[in-house]
Amino acid sequence: MAHRIETKALHAATEADETKSRQLPVYRNTAYLFDDAEHAANLFALKELGNIYTRLMNPTHDRLERRVAALEGAPAALALASGTSAIFYTVINVCGKGDEVVASSNLYGGTFTMFDAILPELGVNVVFVDPTPEAFDAATTDKTRLFYTESIGNPSLDVMNVRALAEVAKKRRVPLAVDSTFTTPYHFRPIEHGADIVVHSLTKWMGGHGAGVGGIVVDGGTFDWTDEKFRLYNEPDKSYHGLRYARDLGDLNPVAFALRMRLVPLRNLGAAISPDNAWQFLQGIETLHLRMQRHSENALRVAEFLQSHDAVEWTRYPGLPGDPAHENAKSQFENGFGGMVVFGVKGGKAAGEKFVEATKLFSHVANVGDAKSLVIHPASTTHSQLSEEQLRAGGVAPDMVRLSIGIEHVDDILEDVDQALKAARG
Ligand SMILES: Cc1ncc(COP(=O)(O)O)c(C=O)c1O
Repeated sequence: MAHRIETKALHAATEADETKSRQLPVYRNTAYLFDDAEHAANLFALKELGNIYTRLMNPTHDRLERRVAALEGAPAALALASGTSAIFYTVINVCGKGDEVVASSNLYGGTFTMFDAILPELGVNVVFVDPTPEAFDAATTDKTRLFYTESIGNPSLDVMNVRALAEVAKKRRVPLAVDSTFTTPYHFRPIEHGADIVVHSLTKWMGGHGAGVGGIVVDGGTFDWTDEKFRLYNEPDKSYHGLRYARDLGDLNPVAFALRMRLVPLRNLGAAISPDNAWQFLQGIETLHLRMQRHSENALRVAEFLQSHDAVEWTRYPGLPGDPAHENAKSQFENGFGGMVVFGVKGGKAAGEKFVEATKLFSHVANVGDAKSLVIHPASTTHSQLSEEQLRAGGVAPDMVRLSIGIEHVDDILEDVDQALKAARG
């Protein structure tokens, strides 16, 4: 019988190795012994699967990949050095020169910059649209090869209707990739709603400890790559014995996307996660469900508090009835609405900056998803590379304060927010 997500978080991919250790060991190792010349040749020719070199695979990485795949209800995943490399590899594992991505305009600032400034230099054009299925449909051309969105936009906190977007993607025969960093599989599993690929920055809630950087790409095994328009899957790969990933992988064809990412971008561009970080993320995931439950409960309380506070101009949280994202969030998310709350202090940008400086419990850092409460002013930091127009399109108001609500006692969080609001009012 399939276990529930809380049980999978603790038990998926935890079978004992030959040492019979109950806790998973960290394999701090680079290369693996071949039995003989034939074994070595077979591994390189994919006639047999097994460990070769830690840039490509490692038993600790394998546990992390199988655990996250289990949480997402997917057949395969690939762990990488950061959420950023997971996003980059997702795009270049589908798109080459001349191909197009249609992406939501309200993405995390680093992703936006990658899509806006770096991918076009490599010949991959990104068309940014409002985060609605209709806008994605209207922007699709015969060059479109990928749809890309965030489940909850960072930091606008808009929520995509993934099910409706997946229908457009199916009609247009392009894969849909969803960055689900803000939701985690405890609140949302995009593949169950029709997405083909899920991306996470493990650095955030999945790890929960703020102790390492990592990312993961999950392959739903749902997309048919045999469509000839996907050149990278149907033309022989000269970097890998002329392999055609959509056609020559036999039993592994359903996970062609994950396998190609391992064999091409990871093997030859090399953004491997470290075994120590992979182990830290496995540790963090054991308590994902408990942490997310508390993050969500606390965030809702903070959002309600801000909404009724006379020093606050506006508040956004997908869990607030009446929030523009609430209907999409309610119809798709389980167990709550995540740990992010954004708001504007009366008095604009200057008052917002005063609020950030006046907080005592909150850490002023460029991170989200730590177990501790965090605060930042996005327009002057994480999203500062964006123009005024891009900030507006991405839903980043100049006065926006972004809170990542931690798992402390909620009354301590509320007291700190209250005193910082008073200080901001001056
Ligand atoms: C939604 C989202 N995706 C991806 C990333 C990038 O992840 P990483 O910092 O692990 O590279 C971030 C970072 O803040 C993020 O917020």
